[in-house]
Amino acid sequence: TWTTGNVIEEQVALIREQVGSKRAICGLSGGVDSAVAAALVQKAIGSQLTCVYVDHGLMRQGETEQVEKDFVAATGVQLKVVDAEKRFLDALAGVSDPEQKRKIIGREFIRVFEQAQAEIIAEGGEDVAFLVQGTLYPDVVESGGGSGTANIKSHHNVGGLPDDIEFELVEPLRQLFKDEVRMVGAQLGLPDEIVQRQPFPGPGLGIRIVGEVTKERLDLLREADAIAREELTAAGLDRSIWQCPVVLLADVRSVGVQGDGRTYGHPIVLRPVSSEDAMTADWTRMPYDVLAKISTRITNEVADVNRVVLDVTSKPPGTIEWE
Ligand code: XMP
Repeated sequence: TWTTGNVIEEQVALIREQVGSKRAICGLSGGVDSAVAAALVQKAIGSQLTCVYVDHGLMRQGETEQVEKDFVAATGVQLKVVDAEKRFLDALAGVSDPEQKRKIIGREFIRVFEQAQAEIIAEGGEDVAFLVQGTLYPDVVESGGGSGTANIKSHHNVGGLPDDIEFELVEPLRQLFKDEVRMVGAQLGLPDEIVQRQPFPGPGLGIRIVGEVTKERLDLLREADAIAREELTAAGLDRSIWQCPVVLLADVRSVGVQGDGRTYGHPIVLRPVSSEDAMTADWTRMPYDVLAKISTRITNEVADVNRVVLDVTSKPPGTIEWE
């Protein structure tokens, strides 16, 4: 019979057999798959594993801390955090085009990750022979079922890895579906905030600011996004909604009135969607009172935001993200 306990036991044995006394590296993205894969490998080989987390400065409020503190506390994993916020922001300066942003973020990510990898190899030498990937069963099917060492399908959330690596892959989630991965993660003691997380794009908030990405704009969007998430969770909607991008229209201003004065601030867009697989989606008919609460709080609490709008477009023709 299938139980999470059996899956864990079986995978731990397989990982030990595969890795032996060598060392492994795992990139953490803050997402569910890499976190659960890392936790399983950690359970199997302990300090032979080193995780790498690239902080690109485009995460939402609290997410980096979740990885740095909560994930480490729950697993005892050895973690190398690279604070690369300035590097990413410098590279993104002056760029508004969405695809350009994606390219820059992907490129910088690979460079930073490779550098961290090189440092780990410098310490561990030839013993560093394995790379852990959070590949799930649907990914395996999608990519034709092949396994191997050479060309890795660039991991969606980790932003793509170099083609020339000579690591052997460890993929302990290859037989699992997403809901099973969440169950395994919970059984391994990972916090709910990580295990139950909604999908979040690799380029992060970088593609949720329509316009140039700056530190000020990121901070503003982080505040608005945190309020929306808090209220969605409080209303018990965080698991029924597939995901809810919160988007800052940084180049748009509109007139408002607040206190005794006229304001000229930015709009925030709420984009709650219902979906099975993100290929198609519908806008979520969510309760007006929850929308009202989010709107009131964001306009009251976030400086420079004087309007909250709701996106009522399905996919197609709209995509889930605005960029
Ligand atoms: P769209 O906006 O195309 O999004 O309807 C479909 C799903 O993919 C996510 N998404 C991304 N994920 N890198 C990612 O890792 C990206 O560049 C990216 N763009 C969109 C989006 O959040 C949704 O879940």
